[in-house]
Amino acid sequence: SSYQHILTEKKGAKQNVALITLNRPKALNALCDALVTELGDAVEKFDRDESIGAVVITGSEKAFAAGADIKEMQNTTFSSNIRLRLLEHWSKISQCKKPIIAAVNGFALGGGCELAMMCDIIYAGDKANFGQPEILIGVVPGAGGTQRIARSCGKSKAMEMCLTGNRITAAEAEKMGLVSKVFPAGELLSEAIKLGEKIASQSPLIAQLAKECVNVAFETSLQEGLRFEKKMFYAAFATEDQKEGMKAFVEKRAPNFKNN
Ligand code: HXC
Repeated sequence: SSYQHILTEKKGAKQNVALITLNRPKALNALCDALVTELGDAVEKFDRDESIGAVVITGSEKAFAAGADIKEMQNTTFSSNIRLRLLEHWSKISQCKKPIIAAVNGFALGGGCELAMMCDIIYAGDKANFGQPEILIGVVPGAGGTQRIARSCGKSKAMEMCLTGNRITAAEAEKMGLVSKVFPAGELLSEAIKLGEKIASQSPLIAQLAKECVNVAFETSLQEGLRFEKKMFYAAFATEDQKEGMKAFVEKRAPNFKNN
């Protein structure tokens, strides 16, 4: 590919899982502006690629990503942050309609932890560690750390991580619900791709609806969320994939989804 800081490829027996590898080893995959721009571009392209059913984002054995690039941010100012809309393009990752899995080995710190949390599912290697160390360098998280940890793991954990900058292990992250599964480091990527393949074998259309429904749980009241879910459930019946899925069940065979 034409990217400088990331690698992209298609994986899985059906080549329907996109793999994006953060590849800036000298800086432990620190998320400089150029890297995040490339990442946003790659995610957007795979999101529009009909052959792809799920995306996996990973880093290296040592670092998923050690945060936003501190050297790049060091001399920016309040007014330049506003003028240049600092970090605004990070939102491209959370705008992806297709399921994204973060496969985290090594450090996921600051923006690296936040990037993992923008993904839909986090799988971790047993040596991974997570943290929001911004407070140690005189800032607060700026890409969702305070909000996403609080919502998915509760106030006490969010406060502890954001106020101390302490790192947590993969095992702790699993226990508190930040990551869904932990694997031996060497097996992590193939497990993440296997998960991507499983997701990619569903109807992409319905997977998109399911992702949207779960995300609404983080953005609205229970009543509104339940109402939204019910509308999506009803809407699923307007698709051919619903007809095919239920017909296949009744005929005791595997469904052949058409993304329609
Ligand atoms: C720029 C970084 C970096 C970062 C590491 N490097 N993290 N450069 N920004 N976030 C660079 C180092 O400067 C060094 O390059 C090289 O990567 C290797 O790092 P070392 O520190 O020598 O490695 P090690 O001793 O193994 O320590 C690993 C580490 C440490 C514990 C992860 O690098 C570290 O604490 N990094 C910063 C973590 C952090 O504070 N992240 C939050 C950033 S703020 P040179 O060339 O100097 O040898 C943030 C704000 C988010 O993310 C806001 C929204 C996005």
